[in-house]
Amino acid sequence: MLRTCWLPCLRKTSHLKVLSIFSSTSSASCILKKGIACFSALPETHQMLQKTCRDFAEGELKPIAAKIDREQLYPKEQIKKMGDLGLMAVSIPQEYGGAGLDYLAYTIAMEEISRGCASAGVIMTLNNSLFLGPLLHFGTPEQKKKFIRPFSKGERVGAFALSERGSGSDAGNMVATAKDDSSHFILNGTKSWVTNGYESEAALIFVSTNRTLKNKGISTIIVPQPIEGLFLGKKDVKMGIRGSSTCDFIFEDCKVPRENLLGDFGLGFKIALSSLDSSRIGIASQALGIAQACLELATDYSSKRLAFGKPLTKLQTIQNKLADMALQLESARLLTWRAAWLKDNRKPYTKEAAMAKLAASEAATFLSHQCIQILGGMGYVSDMPAERHYRDARITEIYEGTSEIQRLVIARTLLKEMGY
Ligand code: CAA
Repeated sequence: MLRTCWLPCLRKTSHLKVLSIFSSTSSASCILKKGIACFSALPETHQMLQKTCRDFAEGELKPIAAKIDREQLYPKEQIKKMGDLGLMAVSIPQEYGGAGLDYLAYTIAMEEISRGCASAGVIMTLNNSLFLGPLLHFGTPEQKKKFIRPFSKGERVGAFALSERGSGSDAGNMVATAKDDSSHFILNGTKSWVTNGYESEAALIFVSTNRTLKNKGISTIIVPQPIEGLFLGKKDVKMGIRGSSTCDFIFEDCKVPRENLLGDFGLGFKIALSSLDSSRIGIASQALGIAQACLELATDYSSKRLAFGKPLTKLQTIQNKLADMALQLESARLLTWRAAWLKDNRKPYTKEAAMAKLAASEAATFLSHQCIQILGGMGYVSDMPAERHYRDARITEIYEGTSEIQRLVIARTLLKEMGY
């Protein structure tokens, strides 16, 4: 039986123990315990969290994942239960209604939830790190009061609208505007591919308040929903993560009170990029969850399916595939946990978050491809979840910065670090 509001009691994390994951190579052996990836040095509290999230995903998410994918249904009831568990505001302090856990805890929870259902994973990460995260770091006390607590329990979810049809990777090149008319902003233009768009009850909207200043003229405005002058486009029909909604936000003279400016004028681009640094660790964790589900499915199937008179697992060609899958998954997990650890310890992590997202998303694509290959015909039909994992994995190489953008971020930071 799951306990409501269980996560806050895990708060007393020993940072020394977490530190030992990365400082002591001898004790940092990554093992698979009953299918759960865990470090022998992972603090007990984090192992307990992992188990809670896994039990929840097994009992509540796995059974509905195929249906919500097929019918493009938002898993409202399950998101509410995740909110009760503290999963919709994992790293938000308790005073604002969050679970008050560290970012490593958040990555572990995200992986387990996404292993059960990648759609629930993206709904969760969006609310945690692209809506509540920026509000916590840049919001005024009034904004925090109004927009954090009500969005921390899964009853309401938030959104983040940065991209436009003509500015995805080149995020600073947006054309949507907000005119400042002293007491209000007047928003015009269209933001695209807004995750949680059909369910969100508030969104962080990135608009130009001064186009001549380019990215230094971008500001972030908190828009409560519904609101006059904001229209939702059609629900996008997606290849994967189909339980989460995505749509355009179309602004036509939408009037928003001036007090809803997040941070300062012109700070929007930096708010977006710093929030994406954090959130990319979340997407890396989502990708790990998908990849882990593929590894478990492939090993389980190949241990039972016979070919040439023996289980597939006895064939060296299958063993090689399983070895490569495990290698990519565990390498990506180490990078992801390292990025989270750096963030928890207030060290720079832009490059490491990009590395984690790049490695984990490419691992998810690779593992889901190999999983189908091992399952053969059974991998290609929807009776088994392999083809859904394959479709879900694909987006992790696109949203929150494509793999090409992650390489650009890594190379730029690397060159700077090396003095070039
Ligand atoms: N944090 C804070 N500030 C940063 C930063 C960071 N990580 N990276 C750069 N900046 C600052 C720079 O210091 C610079 O400021 P100054 O001029 O004061 O020095 C300013 O931002 C501009 O930086 P750049 O010159 O590097 O900007 P650029 O335009 O050349 O490149 C980019 C930026 C890295 C390509 C960026 O546009 C980017 O990350 N693009 C991808 C966008 C993205 O990830 N979109 C995802 C959409 S949201 C989503 O997908 C959510 C969902 O649905 C699930």
